[in-house]
Order: sequence, then C-alpha cells, then structure tokens
Amino acid sequence: MSAPLVLGIESSCDETGIGIVRGTELLANVISSSMDQHARYGGVVPEVAARAHLEAMVPAIEQALSEADVTLAELDAIAVTSGPGLAGALMVGVGAAKALAVALDKPLYAVNHLVGHVGADLIRTDLTSTDLSSTDLTRNGEPLEYPTIALLVSGGHTSLLLVRDLVSDVELLGETIDDAAGEAFDKVARLLGLPYPGGPHIDRVAVGGDPKAIRFPRGLSLPKDMEKHRYDFSFSGLKTAVARWVEREQDAGSEVPVADVAASFREAVVDVLLTKAVAACTDLGVPRLLLGGGVVANARVRELAAERCVAAGIRLRIPPLSLCTDNGAMIAALGAQLIMAGHAPSTLDFGADSTLPV
Ligand code: KG4
Ligand code: ZN
Repeated sequence: MSAPLVLGIESSCDETGIGIVRGTELLANVISSSMDQHARYGGVVPEVAARAHLEAMVPAIEQALSEADVTLAELDAIAVTSGPGLAGALMVGVGAAKALAVALDKPLYAVNHLVGHVGADLIRTDLTSTDLSSTDLTRNGEPLEYPTIALLVSGGHTSLLLVRDLVSDVELLGETIDDAAGEAFDKVARLLGLPYPGGPHIDRVAVGGDPKAIRFPRGLSLPKDMEKHRYDFSFSGLKTAVARWVEREQDAGSEVPVADVAASFREAVVDVLLTKAVAACTDLGVPRLLLGGGVVANARVRELAAERCVAAGIRLRIPPLSLCTDNGAMIAALGAQLIMAGHAPSTLDFGADSTLPV
C-alpha cells in the first residue's frame, strides 16, 4: 500500500490548522491563528475562537490544497481533532471534516489532539536546522521508538504520557490539576505588564535576570504530594506566589526587578516540568522523552531538557517548532498512521468532546 494522502483539520483552541501529509511526508501546514483577537482579554475567548475558525476554515483548506498541489478528489482520507479542547472551537473543525468526508465519500478519522502532538515528530521536514533548538539529540522524521514518555506543554494542556504505541496504546500518567504551564506564563506576564501571549516575553526578559534571585514554589513536588500526584502538575500556587511577591515589593515602594522575577518564575516552571518528566522516564525505565506544545519554544525548556536528558541517558526528541504548536499536519500524520496500521475509519456519529481521554 502506498503512503496515504491525508488532510488533517485542527481547531481545538485558537489555531485553525490544515495540514496535508503523504504518510510521514509533509506537503502543507497552513495555520491561521486568532491570537490577536484574544490579546485584550489576556486569554483565549472560546466564542471568539469558534467564530474565527468558521471564517478561516475554508480559505485555509484551499490554501493547503494549493500548497500541496493536490485536489480534494486525490485525498485518501480526512482526519480531524475531536477533542480535547474548547467545545465550540472543536465543533467547527468536526463539522467541516464531516462535510468534506460526506461530500467526497472519503473515510474520516477522529483523533485525539494530545496524541496528535506526539505524532508530530514523525513528520519529515527540512525545518530541523532552522527553527529547532541547539540540541543535536533530536531525530525529527524518524519512526518513534516505543515505549516513549511525552511531555506536552501549551496554553491549554500540561500532560505527561506513556506512549507504548501511538495508534493503540497511550496512557495518561499525569496532567495539571489547575492551570496549564503556558497559561501560567501568560498570567505572570500580565502581572509584570508584558503583552499577551506572555510566554515569549517572559523568555526574552528572563535572559537578563538571575534564575536564583527568588525561590518560587515547585508545585506538587513535596514528599506528601509525590505519593498521589507524582506525575501531576500545579501552577496556580506559583502564579499566586509571584503575584504576592510583586505586590510586597510594590507596597514597600521598591522597583520590581522584572528580569529577576521572570527568570526565577521561568526556572520554577521549567524545573518542575523536567523533574517530573525525567522521573517518569527513570521510574518506568523508559530512556526516551519527546516534547510537544507551544511552551517548548521556551529557551530554558530546551536547554534544561537537553542537560537533564544527557545526564540521565535519555534520548530527547523535540519536533520543529512549527509542529510543536497546534497544527493540522500532526492530525493528518496521526490519521495516516491509523490507516497504515489498518484501523477502521470513524463512524460519522462522533461529536466534539472537550475532555476526550487519550
Ligand atoms: O501550543 P500553543 O501555540 O497553543 C495552545 O495553547 O494550544 O501554545 C501557546 C502557549 C501560550 O501560553 C504561550 O505563552 C506559550 O505557549 N509560549 C511560551 C513560549 N512561546 C509560547 N511559553 C514560554 N516560553 C516561550 N518562549
Ligand atoms: Zn495543543
């Protein structure tokens, strides 16, 4: 069987992503983001995101087909994110995917967004040298080796997965019990007066600061937490700790050392993310770690991941950044994997499931 030509639709948050792959080969990856429209609210507004998907969907599909130089008739299948994510946003993608599948009489694969992030690194691209971290441990485009641990960190999720097989055996080890890590970056940036989305700004400002200046708490890392929440994360306490610290400085009439706060906050987030991810690898005897999600753009995440993985003998994989953030190519790639593994397409009665389990 030749590699299937699959169009993938992603609409779980604020990115309308349309990707086209042939097996693991990337043909198009069009992303239309409504981020600018959410900026003044300091976070993604579900209704605004859903409306933006509706406007962007058809133009993005047309653009992807044109970039890939394929026609709808040539597609072997459609794949779509059916969850988890924002319900109204997901519905737009699911509706578009069903319409295409019915009109074209093509098989449709409903896939899980988080599993899609893991599959992103299967995609072969020539992006590695340009937008990737300095680590040379990454083997983008190679088949996944099993089992592998995946740490997915974005504005919407912070999850640790044990992947025994991408298309049939993915286990959730832990996740955030409150805010996602990206959300914490955005909230702390806001209280430091930095623009939305705050992650990249904190990252930039932190360069001039001392990460040891302030010891902020590492959520769910105390011995008592580690029994029940060994692989879970919590960032709301950290956000509150930063807010209190800044308030105290302001009340005392001192100038807030923004760079030190940003660097110390970033260190707290990144430390806890990698401590737990590496602990999962060591506890479970899995010497492989894959990162995904928009927060992987963070310079310190990449640096510390490389450092700790080398020290622990763990092979690290980081997809190119344009495949770490939400995109349709990873959804198309997962659809192609399902087809190649002989999975039956979805029946057309699935919905949008905002809490879809892996
Ligand atoms: O995956 P993504 O593009 O969208 C979803 O959230 O689904 O991730 C966006 C999140 C935002 O919270 C943003 O602040 C964060 O990723 N982010 C970063 C950096 N770049 C983006 N966080 C920390 N450091 C960065 N350099
Ligand atoms: Zn995502």
